[in-house]
Amino acid sequence: MHRNEPTLSDLTSHTGETRERAKAHPDDPLLAVEDLVVEFPARGTGRQAHRAIDGVSFQLDRAESLGVVGESGSGKTTLGRAALGLIPATRGRIRLCGHDISKAPASRLRHLRRSAQTVFQDPGGSLNPRMTVAACVAEPLEIHRVGSRAERRTRALTLLERCGMPADAAVRYPHELSGGQRQRVAIARAIALEPSLIVCDEPTSALDVSVQAQILNLLMDLQRERGLAYLFISHDIEVVAHLCTRIAVMREGRIIESGPTDNVLNSPTDPYTRELLSAVPSRDFVST
Ligand SMILES: Nc1ncnc2c1ncn2[C@@H]1O[C@H](COP(=O)(O)OP(=O)(O)OP(=O)(O)O)[C@@H](O)[C@H]1O
Ligand SMILES: [Mg+2]
Repeated sequence: MHRNEPTLSDLTSHTGETRERAKAHPDDPLLAVEDLVVEFPARGTGRQAHRAIDGVSFQLDRAESLGVVGESGSGKTTLGRAALGLIPATRGRIRLCGHDISKAPASRLRHLRRSAQTVFQDPGGSLNPRMTVAACVAEPLEIHRVGSRAERRTRALTLLERCGMPADAAVRYPHELSGGQRQRVAIARAIALEPSLIVCDEPTSALDVSVQAQILNLLMDLQRERGLAYLFISHDIEVVAHLCTRIAVMREGRIIESGPTDNVLNSPTDPYTRELLSAVPSRDFVST
């Protein structure tokens, strides 16, 4: 965390939520997903429910980054959303900071959700077009009734600056920014409540290569400063290789291979992983 940057606990939480934030036992992983199944209900008579996630288990520790790769439709987005309780699990157990989020009462879930935020491919979805950039970043603080209006605004400006936004951007509207700038605003908003975990779903896919690199560098810097963990979803194996210490390869709703990035990329054991890697043009991480 940058010096002089007010932390969340410097601000007053009118609900007392800051003090009450989900306390985890030091031995609990940050996120533990066990035998997760997600089915989407059938549409139309005679149709079967669609099983998008089919018995997935993984753990994520604090300050760790787990990359999730796999072909389109393999279940990456569904996994990321279900892991945060944003899509109901059909079966299985999800523990966030040691708390079972599938069983947590709504009030507890609200506290827990503060610990985990999302950044999506299209930041337009999370930024209200009728709000200024500063208001978009301050909104999560307002929702959780943290600080006074003036304190929230100050914090929003600090976060925007930290995320590399020019000072005059605060009073603009999201459509007045470039795609890369919008993603910086979405990241500033995601870190406003000082989460422990961010699910990033294709956060750089809509950006050109040089802007992609800037956003990845920002995410890595923020991880180092704040001990953030990332569940980083991408179809781009090179991006994942750059950012993540571990990789999980998904296919048809299952994790078919996982392990430290170097192992998975340089010595893949599953034929499907090899096939995925063979499609990457510059395969300098793959031993031949
Ligand atoms: N709300 C939904 N209702 C029904 N089926 C869904 C829904 N969301 C996703 N699916 C289906 O679940 C499967 C997994 O979708 P998901 O979006 O998780 O894939 P993905 O790996 O993120 O793909 P992409 O790389 O294209 O983003 C797909 O077959 C998809 O059609
Ligand atoms: Mg997806």
